[in-house]
Amino acid sequence: MPRVANFNPGPAALPLPVLEKARDELIDYQGTGMSIMEHSHRGKAYEAVHDEAIALLGELAGIPSTHQVLFMQGGASTQFALVPMNFLHGKSADYLHTGSWSKLAMDEARHFGTPRLAASTEKDRFTRVPRQEELDLDAGAAYVHVTTNNTIEGTQYHYDPDTRGVPLVADMSSDFLWKKPDVARYALVYAGAQKNLGPSGVVIVIARKDFIAAGKKEIPKIFKYTTYAEANSLYNTPPTFAIYLVRNVLGWVKSLGGPAQLEAQNREKARLLYGALDAHADYYRAPVEKASRSTMNVVFRLPSEPLEEQFVKDAAVAGLVGLKGHRSVGGIRASIYNAISPDDVRKLVGFMEEFARKNRP
Ligand SMILES: Cc1ncc(COP(=O)(O)O)c(C=O)c1O
Repeated sequence: MPRVANFNPGPAALPLPVLEKARDELIDYQGTGMSIMEHSHRGKAYEAVHDEAIALLGELAGIPSTHQVLFMQGGASTQFALVPMNFLHGKSADYLHTGSWSKLAMDEARHFGTPRLAASTEKDRFTRVPRQEELDLDAGAAYVHVTTNNTIEGTQYHYDPDTRGVPLVADMSSDFLWKKPDVARYALVYAGAQKNLGPSGVVIVIARKDFIAAGKKEIPKIFKYTTYAEANSLYNTPPTFAIYLVRNVLGWVKSLGGPAQLEAQNREKARLLYGALDAHADYYRAPVEKASRSTMNVVFRLPSEPLEEQFVKDAAVAGLVGLKGHRSVGGIRASIYNAISPDDVRKLVGFMEEFARKNRP
């Protein structure tokens, strides 16, 4: 079976060289006679992988010395709860509401204080993100929470919100490292690895050291960011194989030429796909406002739901999989994360043009 073009929203496509390396090293990791999965997390072989993953993240994401990388578990969903548990202290925090994931983040904050709506695009059915001038920020907020890319709705911020000194916390699960992030502007960034960085099972957290140091002390140790920070994310057993794969994905990013190259490639992919949607606007409808279009998750509709079902089925036969929109919104979604090549997108565009020609309502 040849490899398919995998447009899944996450877990998502991984670069083939990363999978091949993992296959080659699976049984005998670098002559140690065992898999990296079987090594102790306190042994030399694993520690070298762990530290290299952190170093590569620092280099590729341009992480300043004020910030620290943490590897955590429980998915981005656990971060929805851990952020307010550590930093809300019964106070109020500003949430920018742009869809399903921001809603879940906000709901968890209610257990620890008051999430305040500082912006919402719900009345536009989340077809855009708010503009800077629409943010109604509270200068006394514990933090501002933003979801930089809305995986389900297909929207993305193309600016870093200016919070006028209030710590900015970002869920970057679905667009981390689509280009070089401006980490210094964020007090804390979290991203589940399973879209741009590796497999599910590990969450990358990048946090300002002084911000996490001021977190709540009277909570269980395992839920405190400082516990991970003080132990180089080795307080307890980390998800070693997931971190190994993240290290390999980062090595692949570096071999491509780094985030500048990824950004150029991602912009080219988005240009191809949105270009096709706009060129065939009599058939395909892209609901997202142009300025908010996601470079990672491209959502669109066909003239009818039966045609959308047919589209997904025929695409799979053509080796293009994972195109069904999220169950809550329907339609089509093509997730074009870092591991998707411009050629994969060209194949999809070719298929879309032919489908539109053959299947008029
Ligand atoms: C933006 C965003 N935040 C959070 C999540 C939840 O991640 P997890 O399933 O790792 O908890 C997702 C999952 O797709 C997501 O896209």
